[in-house]
Amino acid sequence: MRVLVTGGAGYIGSHTCIELLESGYEVVIVDNLVNSDKVVLERIEELSGKKPRYYDYDVTDMEKMKLVFEENQIDAIIHFAALKAVGESVYKPVEYYSNNLISTLVLFKLMKVYGVKNFVFSSSATVYGDAKTCPILEDFPRSATNPYGRTKLIIEDMLMDLSKADPSLNIALLRYFNPIGAHKSGKIGEEPNGIPTNLMPYITKVAIGKLEEVSVFGDDYNTPDGTGVRDFIHVLDLASGHVKALEKLCENPGLVIYNLGTGNGYSVLDLIRAFSEASGVEIPYKIVGRRPGDIATCYADPSKAERELGWKAKYELKEMCEDSWRWQSQNPNGYLK
Ligand SMILES: NC(=O)c1ccc[n+]([C@@H]2O[C@H](COP(=O)([O-])OP(=O)(O)OC[C@H]3O[C@@H](n4cnc5c(N)ncnc54)[C@H](O)[C@@H]3O)[C@@H](O)[C@H]2O)c1
Repeated sequence: MRVLVTGGAGYIGSHTCIELLESGYEVVIVDNLVNSDKVVLERIEELSGKKPRYYDYDVTDMEKMKLVFEENQIDAIIHFAALKAVGESVYKPVEYYSNNLISTLVLFKLMKVYGVKNFVFSSSATVYGDAKTCPILEDFPRSATNPYGRTKLIIEDMLMDLSKADPSLNIALLRYFNPIGAHKSGKIGEEPNGIPTNLMPYITKVAIGKLEEVSVFGDDYNTPDGTGVRDFIHVLDLASGHVKALEKLCENPGLVIYNLGTGNGYSVLDLIRAFSEASGVEIPYKIVGRRPGDIATCYADPSKAERELGWKAKYELKEMCEDSWRWQSQNPNGYLK
């Protein structure tokens, strides 16, 4: 089976490409490196022992993407490519809507032309907005509080419409909770361009001395220690979730939706403490005001994925922290040599 992986040089995409290659899939990557580096492609090859075909194309470019479908008989698409910084999306809504929505529409049009029936979409727990209760089930109401989240919501809605119009399509909406961790080799990991907006890469940058201290946004939430509670999940667990989702699509299920989380909630301070213990590095932090749009608590009920995909997250917080630290400490400059 040949899988087109858009955004395959990114954080989750690169780990998933390795998992796919190791599971015997052929992989074609399209990534314009807007938030990644071509060294990732060398590392994917080094770690998997296989060289996936790679195109340095923008997925919004219909003419270029046609070439990818012409040159490769694609059986399934995993669509990771997106801009993903919540805060930035508030200031750059046009960039977020054009990049995330147009890339997806290009893929939909080409799927029709080339008869591709299987599509896995990188959705997010952000589509649950501020859920009234936790753990969160897949049928909870959805909402968006920022342009990034709205792109996920719109694409989910579009996929539901596509599925109604063409029941022969097989579509998996995977709603990730908070991915952290890195490949066991320490050779690939999360390396956003610029100052990280996610907590773990921020912590690791403080640990190697590139940033001064972690800002903890609010300690007055209704949570055990007052800081936000999230469902941190190892990126390797997410990667295996994608392989399980592809296997599911081979059963012709139509449209399916799964939470990919651990089901455990840890606070920001829990994560900082766990990271300090795993790395042996004290992480200075300061409490600052709440960040607009942040919510108190968010963790998954992942039991549907376990029941229907036979998938369950296996890594604990300690190992997630150890692996993030191995990546960052071995690559203090990220992918820059
Ligand atoms: N990391 C998270 O916290 C998180 C949580 C939930 C959902 N997601 C979603 O998962 C997906 C992957 O996230 P990630 O953390 O790996 O992000 P990432 O930025 O590391 O990876 C995205 C990749 O897509 C590429 N890309 C973006 N726009 C492109 C375009 N138009 N054409 C070609 N390539 C393009 C980037 O260069 C990057 O390599 C995204 O859709 C994101 O919204 C991420």
